[in-house]
Amino acid sequence: MAEGLVARISGPVVVARNMKGSRMYDVVLVGDEELNGEIIRLDGDEAVVQVYENTEGLKVGEKVTTTDVPLSVELGPGLLSSIYDGIQRPLPALTEMSGSFISRGITVPGLDRSRKWDFSPAVRKGDSVGPGDILGTVQEYHIEHRIMVPPTVSGVVQHIHEGPCTVEDTVCVLEDGTELTMMQRWPVRKNRPYTRKLDPTVPLLTGQRVFDSMFPLVKGGTAMIPGGFGTGKTVSEQTLAKWADTQIVVYIGCGERGNEMTDVLTEFPELVDPRTGKPLIHRTVMIANTSNMPVAAREASIYTGITIGEYFRDMGYDVSLMADSTSRWGEALREVSGRLEEMPGEEGYPAYLAARLAAFYERAGRVVCMGSEERTGSVTIVGAVSPPGGDFSEPITQNTLRIAGTFWALDTSLANRRHFPAINWIKSYSLYLDMVHEWFVENVAEDWKDLRDRNMYLLQKEVELQEIVQLVGPDALPEHEKAILEITRMIREDFLQQSAYDPVDSFCSLQKQYWMLKVILFFHDAIIDAMERGVSMKQILDLPLKTRIARMKEIEEVSEIKGIIEEINTGIKGIGGGG
Ligand SMILES: Nc1ncnc2c1ncn2[C@@H]1O[C@H](COP(=O)(O)OP(=O)(O)O)[C@@H](O)[C@H]1O
Ligand SMILES: [Mg+2]
Repeated sequence: MAEGLVARISGPVVVARNMKGSRMYDVVLVGDEELNGEIIRLDGDEAVVQVYENTEGLKVGEKVTTTDVPLSVELGPGLLSSIYDGIQRPLPALTEMSGSFISRGITVPGLDRSRKWDFSPAVRKGDSVGPGDILGTVQEYHIEHRIMVPPTVSGVVQHIHEGPCTVEDTVCVLEDGTELTMMQRWPVRKNRPYTRKLDPTVPLLTGQRVFDSMFPLVKGGTAMIPGGFGTGKTVSEQTLAKWADTQIVVYIGCGERGNEMTDVLTEFPELVDPRTGKPLIHRTVMIANTSNMPVAAREASIYTGITIGEYFRDMGYDVSLMADSTSRWGEALREVSGRLEEMPGEEGYPAYLAARLAAFYERAGRVVCMGSEERTGSVTIVGAVSPPGGDFSEPITQNTLRIAGTFWALDTSLANRRHFPAINWIKSYSLYLDMVHEWFVENVAEDWKDLRDRNMYLLQKEVELQEIVQLVGPDALPEHEKAILEITRMIREDFLQQSAYDPVDSFCSLQKQYWMLKVILFFHDAIIDAMERGVSMKQILDLPLKTRIARMKEIEEVSEIKGIIEEINTGIKGIGGGG
C-alpha cells in the first residue's frame, strides 16, 4: 500500500508523488476528505489520479492513499431498481446523507448490507462446482437472481446455506475452506469472462416498425442513435427500454440539459413495464450522471453499467444497455485528457477515443455463459450520440459509426415535421440483415426480406422522383410513377410513423408489422394491375381503401389486417376500367 502526497491539482485530475508500488486503475483516497479517485497513469513514483468528486478545497501536500483494489462494482441481489452514480454509489442514499449537493468523501456501498434475501440452494454438499455454476437463487421482484460461483473459484461444496441472509453472509463453504457470499466484486474496466461468443443471429425485437422491419438490431449487437437536440434520442432509448425483448435493462443517463436527468430520475421509476404491468424499474439498473456531478464519474459510468450488464448476462439473461448519451461520456474523456495535457486529436478529443469506444462496444455480445449447465445470455448496447448542431461529421459520431452494427440516424427535419420516430430511412442501415434472415424466415414469413427490400427500393425511388417533381412538377410523371409516390407516402405515414405515446401503436408485433407492409405493397401491385386495365389513379384513390390502410395501426387483430388484402382485391376489381 502506498501513501503519497498531492503534488498538483487540475480540476478532476490530481498528480500524487511518492506513489511507488501502486498500480494502474487502483482506487485511491485523495486528501484529508478521502475523495474517491482512480489511478489513470503511472510515471515513476508519480501517479495521475482522476477524482470522482469535486476537488475544490483540496490542497497540495495532503495525503493520497492507495487501496490496492481496482475500481470495482458490487454484484449481487439488490441491483435491480437501484439508481447509482457513475461509481455505483446509490443516489437515494447519497442525497439522504448530504442533500441534493452530494458532499464529498462519502462511501456508501453499492449493495444494501442489512437487507435479507431468501436464498434457495441449487447445489448439495459434495457437489463439484466451478466458475459460473449456480449455487442458488433469490427472488428479486419477478426476476430470479442467480447466485453464481465467481469466475476464478472452483471446488467441492462442503456446506450450503438455505433461507434468509444478507449479501455478506456466507452462503457456501467449499472443502478447501473458501467461503462464498451472494456478492461478487468485479473491476469495471475488465470484461467478465464467458465460455464462447455466439453469432448474432437472433433479432432484438423492439415492437418499433422502423427498427424491426427496416434496420434490425440483434441480441448481443450494437446500435447507435445519433441525432441533434430534440430529435428523439431519449424517447427512443426509453421506448427501447420498455419494449425490447430483454429481461434486464441497464440505463445509463447523462443529462444533456440542466434538469433533464432530474426529469428522467423522476419519470423512469414511474414507467410501467407493458409486458407485466409492474414498474419497469423492477428489472432495471439505472446509472445517472446529473450535471452537477464531476466529469470523472461520468467517464466511469459506462464501465460500471456494462459490468452490471455482463453480470446479468452471465446468469443467462438478455440485457439491453442504453447509454444516453455517449457524447457526454466522450466530453468527460476529453476534459480529463485536456487536464493531463495529452496531445489532443480531432476536436480536442484524445487520440485513444476510437480505441476506448471500440473497447466499450466490444463488450456487447451473445455468449454461452460460464458454468457446467449450458445457458446463453446477451448484452446489447444502444448508444445515443448527440453531435453538436446535429452534424454527424464530428469525432464521436464518426468513431461510433465504425463500430456499431446498426445505425439509426435521427433527422432534425423529420422531427420538425413531426414524423416520429424521426429515423432517416435513407441514411440508416443495419449490418445484421443477412444474419437475421433465417430467423425471420422461420418465425415470420418466407418473403420477409423481399418485402423489406422492395419497401427500401420504393423509398429510394421516391427520393429520385421527388427531385423530378421539384424540377418539372408532378404532372410530368407517368401514372405508374405517381402511383409510387402515393405508395411511399403510405409507407412513410402509415408504416414508418409510430407514436411512442399511442396506447395501441406504441408496440407493433412482428406479425402485424409484416402484414401492414404486405398490405401496402399488395395495394401497389393492385394499382399497377388495374392501371394496365385502363383504370385511373383517381378511381382507385376514390375507394375507401386509402383510409382503411391509414387506420391499420389502430387495428389490434392481425387477421383483420390480413383481410384488407381481400378488400383491395374486390374493391379494385369492382372498378370497370376501360380495357
Ligand atoms: N417516437 C416518438 N413518438 C412520439 N413523439 C416523439 C417520438 N420521439 C420523439 N418525440 C417527440 O420529440 C420530443 C423530443 O424528444 P427527445 O427524445 O427528448 O429528444 P432528444 O433526446 O434527442 O433531445 C419528445 O418530447 C416528443 O414530443
Ligand atoms: Mg435527450
